[in-house]
Amino acid sequence: TAQLNDLAVRAGLKYFGTALGESAVNNDANYKRIVTNKSEFGQLVAENGQKWESTEPSRGSFNYASGDITANTAKASGQGIRCHTLVWHSQLPNWVSSGSWTKDTLTSVIDTHMSNVMGHYKGQCYAWDVVNEAINDDGTWRDSVFYRVFGTDFLPLSFKLAKKYDTNAKLYYNDYNLEYNGAKTNRAVEVVNIIQAAGAPIDGVGFQGHLIVGSTPSRANLATTLRRFTALGVEVAYTELDIRHSSMPPSSAAQVTQGNDYANVVGSCLDVAGCVGVTVWGFTDKYSWVPGTFNGAGDALIYDTNYNKKAAWTSVSSVL
Ligand code: XIL
Repeated sequence: TAQLNDLAVRAGLKYFGTALGESAVNNDANYKRIVTNKSEFGQLVAENGQKWESTEPSRGSFNYASGDITANTAKASGQGIRCHTLVWHSQLPNWVSSGSWTKDTLTSVIDTHMSNVMGHYKGQCYAWDVVNEAINDDGTWRDSVFYRVFGTDFLPLSFKLAKKYDTNAKLYYNDYNLEYNGAKTNRAVEVVNIIQAAGAPIDGVGFQGHLIVGSTPSRANLATTLRRFTALGVEVAYTELDIRHSSMPPSSAAQVTQGNDYANVVGSCLDVAGCVGVTVWGFTDKYSWVPGTFNGAGDALIYDTNYNKKAAWTSVSSVL
């Protein structure tokens, strides 16, 4: 039977992908077998290995051991990669977040980081998440060392620098809870406007898609929200999709709802010209950031803890 990436490509998307857990792939043969199946996942993204704390833990000292796990795995299986992420307040080493910077010195820190990390992966990344999560859920700007030093100027500055180091990668702004089309979504539209108005290049907006079973917007509403961005001339993608049960264990009715929610998200991407693909944030409930982050929640993915395909998998496969 056809698997999700094959179906997605046939349906007109560029890929169906997954995040790759660096320790799972090294320690679990069943995990490795599925994550490297190109018919199922055409593209991989490092769950943690390309983040600043991994790639430049101390100033000027670069480490690609963890990031290369994903890049090498994908290369060996003929899969593509998305690259994640460059300018982000989280998993940012203290030397950056607590440094006392001027605009000039912080520009140079970002420039050096991008030149090394983007240089190392140059030509391999379908897309780079250049800036991640610059907005709070209420639509205000997130407090970060980048915002404190530059105000919103760090947005165009980051995209201009990124373009220098990998001209062919699609440059993305990536964030969560944009799916609800509220104040945060309005501000993300402004992010694109600010970058474009400064003459800086932005190619895409990533909808992370960390959603909740039973509270996921409808397919039509999701498509309307995606179109607010494609109307600005950028592509869109779901970049970190998982749909969590808020109470555990889920009932069988909740499993069906989860499947419908997954179908609505994937379906909305199919409905929008300019929605290029869907990436799930892991594929098996055996390994997911959800239970450790959202108290009491779980089972957000498309395979269960024993690597059986869930109703959510079937539902995604039928909508594709
Ligand atoms: C998460 C990883 O899944 C965890 O393993 C890690 O401990 C924290 O980060 N938004 C993002 C991702 O952009 O990088 C985050 O990944 C989940 C939220």
